[in-house]
Amino acid sequence: MRHPERAFFKGLGAAAPNKVLSNHDIEKLVDTSDEWIRTRTGIERRHVADDDSNTLTLATEAGRKALLDAGVEPEEVDMIILGTLTPYIGFPATACLVQNALGARNAAAVDINAACSGFVYGLHLAQGLIRSGANRNVLLIGAETMSRIVNWKDRNTCVLFGDAAGAALLAPGSGREDSAGVLGTYIRSDGVQPEMLCRIAGGTRPVATEEENYLQMSGKDVFKRAVTAMGDAAELILRQTGFSGEDVTLLIPHQANMRIIEATARRVNIPMEKVLVNIQEYGNTSAATIPVAMAEAKASGRMRSGDLVLMVAFGAGMTWGAALARM
Ligand code: ACO
Repeated sequence: MRHPERAFFKGLGAAAPNKVLSNHDIEKLVDTSDEWIRTRTGIERRHVADDDSNTLTLATEAGRKALLDAGVEPEEVDMIILGTLTPYIGFPATACLVQNALGARNAAAVDINAACSGFVYGLHLAQGLIRSGANRNVLLIGAETMSRIVNWKDRNTCVLFGDAAGAALLAPGSGREDSAGVLGTYIRSDGVQPEMLCRIAGGTRPVATEEENYLQMSGKDVFKRAVTAMGDAAELILRQTGFSGEDVTLLIPHQANMRIIEATARRVNIPMEKVLVNIQEYGNTSAATIPVAMAEAKASGRMRSGDLVLMVAFGAGMTWGAALARM
């Protein structure tokens, strides 16, 4: 019997600005220390956009690499979904600008804003589009220039974020029940306390204070919510798909804080050797985090064909979710 075709990860790509800010560099900007940042978060450095890079250039580079990796021509792409909370301009959607830059002239293109959960949200949408037969080659991108919206005078937030983009070309699998592809996705949101993690500027609401121009976060509250929500989502998607933590080859969690990553892995009994951690190099790159980690894992041979990969994310909204895929 032929089953509805799953979204299969055919190609992956990543991009990050060349400019790097180490914790020691940040010590010169705010009252912090390399020791504090490393022990409280796991971050050692982050890539930040210079004058030549931005959400558009990073997304385009990552998208181009994913197409090359997949062996898919830009004209064959019929949908571009770009997860970002730092679009290149107010509108039109950065996805449309990426479409033009790539020459993907047969695609529809749209931005989604699910903050750090953007890639998992986009994967949920891509899976639905591919399974329904509506689209065949979905280019899913997560791209951010967080460095442009953090307050470089606020030590509570500026040390945490970085800039990057990651992309996946998703296409139908073989249509066999045992084929590779996305086995399940789960997404949720809770808009009851948007102020926990937000940026007021950038929309149409007037900005009332200097702080509202920047990302604002109640770190402790977000931490607690993230630990619970990511653990719940990981557990739920494994139960829904009939797998356990022992079956998972690689856990790719959102990289916001090493302690959140460890708590998530513990919840589903996945040892840290099976957890992809690159927070030390990039910090939190929001929607770009998971696809950047995936692209790196594939390129280094850490993620191979047949592997069972669990992705889990949490971000502003609050939004959260998980996905399980066979590579
Ligand atoms: N350097 C030195 N001291 C600092 C720094 C810094 N960079 N930042 C904060 N501190 C101080 C605080 O001022 C505080 O001092 P006080 O006790 O004198 O007031 C002290 O360190 C402890 O601060 P806490 O907030 O209690 O530190 P905590 O251990 O909670 O770590 C952190 C803070 C890293 C922000 C943590 O709460 C966290 O990771 N939160 C979650 C972030 C997250 O998951 N984001 C995900 C979504 S992101 C998105 O969607 C865009």
